[in-house]
Amino acid sequence: MLLLDKLYIGANRVYHGGFALVKAAIHWRHPALVTGAGSIGRIPFLLSSAKLRHPLIVTDPFLREALAPRLTALLDEAGIDYTVFSDVEPNPTSANCEACRDAYLAAGCDSFIGLGGGAPMDTAKAAACLLVRPDKTVAQMNGILRVWKKLPVLIAVPTTAGTGSETTIAAVIVDEKTRHKAAIMDPVLMPRYAVLDPELTEGLPPAVTASTGMDALVHALEAYFSRSNNTKETKKLAEDAVCLIFQYLERAYRDGSDMEAREQMQLAAYKAGFAFSRVGVGNVHAIAHTLGGLYNTPHGLANAVILPHVLRDYGPVVHKRLGHLAELTGVLTGGTDEDRANAMIQEIDLMNQRMGIPTGFNFIRDEDIDQMITWAMHEANPVYPVPQVFTREHFRQVIEKIRLPKGS
Ligand SMILES: NC(=O)c1ccc[n+]([C@@H]2O[C@H](COP(=O)([O-])OP(=O)(O)OC[C@H]3O[C@@H](n4cnc5c(N)ncnc54)[C@H](O)[C@@H]3O)[C@@H](O)[C@H]2O)c1
Ligand SMILES: [Fe+2]
Repeated sequence: MLLLDKLYIGANRVYHGGFALVKAAIHWRHPALVTGAGSIGRIPFLLSSAKLRHPLIVTDPFLREALAPRLTALLDEAGIDYTVFSDVEPNPTSANCEACRDAYLAAGCDSFIGLGGGAPMDTAKAAACLLVRPDKTVAQMNGILRVWKKLPVLIAVPTTAGTGSETTIAAVIVDEKTRHKAAIMDPVLMPRYAVLDPELTEGLPPAVTASTGMDALVHALEAYFSRSNNTKETKKLAEDAVCLIFQYLERAYRDGSDMEAREQMQLAAYKAGFAFSRVGVGNVHAIAHTLGGLYNTPHGLANAVILPHVLRDYGPVVHKRLGHLAELTGVLTGGTDEDRANAMIQEIDLMNQRMGIPTGFNFIRDEDIDQMITWAMHEANPVYPVPQVFTREHFRQVIEKIRLPKGS
């Protein structure tokens, strides 16, 4: 390894140590959790008990027709005013968030309900940040602790089982002009309530079930490998999430109406979200966000494709922990740490294969690669306490591995 690389990695590790102290001092609030089939029915009570009179329901165009009417019928029945904002794109943009903030102000709203996958929940969070920080753009709030001001109440109602945004301090938004996808990370973004109603995920198509579920797996694994702030609680949450995903994701993929699988996947996504929010994600996410920004690749799909490559690249630094997960999930109980870790990676490959997830993408353009590496480096280093700090060359190698020839 070059001396410069060694110095670069050392500097990242120093930052991780210092930042771990800052994170240890943060008071981590949990959202109030409302769970179970039909729990969406509790939302009018949540609003009235918090003396909130006019929420902005943030959702996307599909869910406006498919699921929002269930919520608006409940609010109508309870005599609660609301406004619906449904212009959220799959990889939400800064312009989406500004329009969402404008809708909130125009209708005189006093709270947000994020109804949907990560995209609507993140849009609601970022719009709330724009409200309390009118002097800043989304890009100026990207990074850590750049909001630092109380937000209006957000009730997060996930309709996918993946991002965990209902219990994270992050909102991941694409800059409208540059297509740079980056996260605002601040404890004030933690939703006040998380409503986990598995019935809302029943209609999720198999491909979206698969990719969003793999996003939750990446959250759990990246949290589990984090080199800072992992506690007994976060490790246990990550382990539980991995076990639940191995047990239930393919069941939910094969039969969307399997409500036990849907419920357990919602719980897995929540646990994984809770864990990674405290200890960080890693290099898989840093690369996945560049694909979401540049090519609109669904976030979970990008993560699922990148995950096995990064795990293989990590090699021995993750063998012990990955081997332990192989034992917990029952993938392999005998052999060495290395044997068990390799069995786990192979099983992830097979899960992807069985759920129709490709091994790479044929749309990555030559001329974008340097920009992707720069963005991924900027996101991961030094912020994410990854098990192995990636240099430009590492990122390039992984991106080359997920590149398939055009037309394939
Ligand atoms: N804030 C965080 O901590 C965090 C964590 C991970 C990912 N993210 C972000 O979340 C976004 C991705 O969220 P996502 O994966 O949930 O996807 P999404 O919100 O884009 O939804 C994916 C698709 O599924 C559809 N859909 C959602 N629920 C449905 C349902 N119940 N039935 C049928 N269709 C349904 C949507 O209309 C959409 O077309 C990305 O922008 C990603 O970067 C945020
Ligand atoms: Fe994610």
